[in-house]
This record gives sequence, C-alpha cells and structure tokens, in this order.
Amino acid sequence: MFSVVVAADKRRGIGRDGALPWKLKGDMRWFRELTTCPDVTQLWPRYCLDQGYQDKRVYTWEELTARIKPAPELPAPYPGARNAVLMGRKTWDSLPTRFRPLPDRLNGILSRALPPGVFQGSQHVWPSFPEALTELSRDPTLRNVFVVGGGEIFAEALRHPECGRVYFTDIEAEFTCDTVLAEWGEAFREIAVSPRLEEAGTTYRFRVLEKAGSQTS
Ligand SMILES: NC(=O)c1ccc[n+]([C@@H]2O[C@H](COP(=O)([O-])OP(=O)(O)OC[C@H]3O[C@@H](n4cnc5c(N)ncnc54)[C@H](OP(=O)(O)O)[C@@H]3O)[C@@H](O)[C@H]2O)c1
Repeated sequence: MFSVVVAADKRRGIGRDGALPWKLKGDMRWFRELTTCPDVTQLWPRYCLDQGYQDKRVYTWEELTARIKPAPELPAPYPGARNAVLMGRKTWDSLPTRFRPLPDRLNGILSRALPPGVFQGSQHVWPSFPEALTELSRDPTLRNVFVVGGGEIFAEALRHPECGRVYFTDIEAEFTCDTVLAEWGEAFREIAVSPRLEEAGTTYRFRVLEKAGSQTS
C-alpha cells in the first residue's frame, strides 16, 4: 500500500510553470514531517487531526506552531526505518538543488528518459510505476511510501489499487494553475481533518482520506 500527498486549490489546481503556485509554510512543514516520520500516527495530535472536526475557528500559523511546540519530538528516521517519496521527473526538477534529495527519505524518480538506477544511495530512478512499487515493496527498511506528485504521477497513483490513503491539503482559494489534480470520485472517504489555518490571507486545512478496506498507517 502507498499514500498520495497533495495540496490543491478549490479548482484542484496543483502547479504552475513547473512550480507550486503558493508558498505556505505550514503545508511545507506538514509535508516534511508526514513524509519523514516513520510512524504517521504521531502527527495526529501535532496537527490536531480529528474525525469530523467541528471547530469553526481559523488558526494563524503562529497559533498552530504554539500548539505544536510542546508536543514531543517526532521520532527520527534511522537506517532501519525510513519512508520513501516517489515523484515524477518534472517534480524532481522543480525541487531547488539545495533541497534535493529530500533528506532522511528514499527519493524515487519516475522517468522514461533518465537512465534507471541508484544514485548517491538514496536516489532511485525507475522507468515505470509498477517497477517502482515492486522494488519499494522489497525494501524491508521502508515504513511508508508516499507518492508526492506531480499531475501525471498523481493520475496514475489515484487509480492504482494499492493507493490506500490521500493526505490532502485543501486550499480554500483559487490560484492560476496549469496542472490539475485527477479526480478520485467516491473511492476515498475522509477519516480525519485539521482545524483551518490561515497564512497571508489563504485558509487551508489538512484532510486524511482512506480507501475502504485499506490498512495503510
Ligand atoms: N500541489 C502539489 O501537491 C504538487 C506536488 C508535486 C508537484 N506539483 C506540481 O506539479 C507540476 C509537475 O507535474 P507534471 O504533471 O507536469 O509532471 P510530473 O508528474 O512531476 O512528471 C512528469 C514526468 O514523469 C515521468 N513519468 C510520468 N509518468 C510516468 C510513468 N508512468 N512511468 C515513468 N515515468 C513517468 C516523465 O518523465 P520523463 O519526461 O523524464 O520521461 C514525465 O515527463 C509542477 O508545477 C509541480 O510544482 C504540485
């Protein structure tokens, strides 16, 4: 089983000119912690995720940070337990070189053009989605596999039978986008949602959706 991690706006826009159309510190922190922490359940209290959250209040980033700070430190990944992030070649190219490979995670890149293989220990290039999933499932050190974009890869991932969860940052605004997130229809139901956050006039919240019968952590 694997999960999709995506942030999309009200029209399911996810990208523009090969980059993210927004800059949301809270979402970047969520992405880093979610994809790095070997035990995903540690994030529930940190981000106040709950089933059917009723709180109508909107929290600023500073308020949420104040709630996060007293929480115990997340367990650090170690060589015997880490996660993998799997992305399309264009998303890989969009990462600033100083931030890639994403640290403390196996970085998987899907490309039909790049030569397949392993580079610098944590970077893997695979020529197809099934080949990537098969190899990742053989690695006993991996706790979670996260598909992290972009549009082409999300479309393939969301219709794959092994896609058990979607971690969805629901951005309640409209941005100009040229890349759109594929629909997931009725396949996924929401199991948890965070309070609303507000940053620079944009509100958003984290939603966790699960496919019926899935056992993803
Ligand atoms: N909002 C979000 O959560 C989020 C997350 C990630 C990215 N994004 C945005 O999404 C945009 C990029 O998305 P995109 O759809 O243009 O590109 P993409 O999905 O990141 O990458 C497409 C590339 O992946 C390779 N590829 C696609 N399907 C494949 C397959 N089945 N097997 C092997 N390789 C495959 C091909 O690489 P080759 O050409 O090398 O063969 C293709 O050109 C950017 O704007 C980025 O910032 C947004």
